[in-house]
Amino acid sequence: MSKTNTIKTIELFAGVGGFHLGLAGKKSVNYGDYEIVWSNQWEPSTKKQHASEVYQKCFPDTQHSNNDIAKVIEEDFAQIPDHDLLVGGFPCQDYSVARTLSKADGLSGKKGVLWWSIHDIISKKGKAAPSFLMLENVDRLLKSPAKQRGRDFAIMLSSLNDLGYIVEWRVINAAEYGMPQRRRRVYIMAYKKGTDIYKKIKTLKDPTKWLTVDGVMNKAFPMGLDKVVETPFVIKGDLADISENHIDYNPKKSPFNTVGIMIDDKVYSSKGIPMIDETIGRKTLGDVLVDDSEVPDEFYLKGDMDKWEYMKGSKKEERTTSAGYTYCYSEGSMVFPDALNNASRTIVTGEGGTTASRFKHVVKTKKGLRRLTPVELERLNMFPDNHTNKVGCTDAKRAFFMGNALVVGIVEGLGKALRDEIGK
Ligand SMILES: C[S@@+](CC[C@H](N)C(=O)[O-])C[C@H]1O[C@@H](n2cnc3c(N)ncnc32)[C@H](O)[C@@H]1O
Repeated sequence: MSKTNTIKTIELFAGVGGFHLGLAGKKSVNYGDYEIVWSNQWEPSTKKQHASEVYQKCFPDTQHSNNDIAKVIEEDFAQIPDHDLLVGGFPCQDYSVARTLSKADGLSGKKGVLWWSIHDIISKKGKAAPSFLMLENVDRLLKSPAKQRGRDFAIMLSSLNDLGYIVEWRVINAAEYGMPQRRRRVYIMAYKKGTDIYKKIKTLKDPTKWLTVDGVMNKAFPMGLDKVVETPFVIKGDLADISENHIDYNPKKSPFNTVGIMIDDKVYSSKGIPMIDETIGRKTLGDVLVDDSEVPDEFYLKGDMDKWEYMKGSKKEERTTSAGYTYCYSEGSMVFPDALNNASRTIVTGEGGTTASRFKHVVKTKKGLRRLTPVELERLNMFPDNHTNKVGCTDAKRAFFMGNALVVGIVEGLGKALRDEIGK
């Protein structure tokens, strides 16, 4: 049974529940204000559904679906309850839209592209569409695809505008706000026509004030703008126009900078300069380390030091592709071992396992050089210790979950700011 007076939330592409922890985890400042009324997680590439199992173990009271979201929408839409807020971290894919041959069918988005599942839920809900959205993605979304920089984001913004939302976004690097990992992601929030937030933004003479003073995202993660946005640019036409040629896409530069807002068809965007509060204290990689006595032997680098040094080092060498084409490959060196007095580098999905790799973190402790344990990776994302240790997954799998997840403190901050704004 759902409680009263909570912000009813559904969590899509839930993974192991980063949004859930930030909005409704027992240690979150938002605990009790948000209620996750439905969640969905399905991994297409494996038979075993480990992430979904972890999710259900950690949040046994949350209604959960472990099925392809596109199928749920098509075959059993009624199971998705009405909700106030829709959240999810979805993949950056090709969002282009084609005009269908039959006029009656209108426009069609590419099959298997998960953005369209979010879009379909909102549009199928009709009058009961959620008042708010909170989404997360890699910052590359703002610049994709390479040949038409910004096209995909233009399609996303424009389709949300068509559904009646004002949309704001900002690229947030968790470490710049004191969190233990340098993880840059774009967070997107949208406010539906009819909500107080929507009305408030519409009455602003200078909408960029929302971005740098009054806005929900700015309250949580304050930023100034590199340049004053004097005139917005306009996204016009239907989605197929935008897909094909509407914006004069510059192959080098996307029109979407790291902070922005779209109101009706107008986009105000500029580079955000984080306003950093130095009094908050900064968490470092060193802060998350467990005692050496708790670290199993296999995490220590053994016999293959040459390989590690080669992978981490700078190189300039001739390589040949499988098609026989020879080219010069070069890359700089990585800090090796990783500095303990800074926030960590970004965790990637390949972080686990014993083989030498350029991207895996290596720390130097009293006992020697070693990789990070799953608990340390969880701490870098601000997850509770052993969150992913409940269904018998390998360490590599647990590392994979953390490479896919998000820094919980970001969602917590955004959730608090949204709740405070709604509560006004
Ligand atoms: C970027 S991850 C999100 C991770 C999550 N925010 C967390 O904190 O763990 C995207 C998730 O979408 C899931 N996914 C991919 N395709 C899906 C589909 N068709 N239906 C449902 N979930 C899907 C993946 O298995 C993955 O866990």
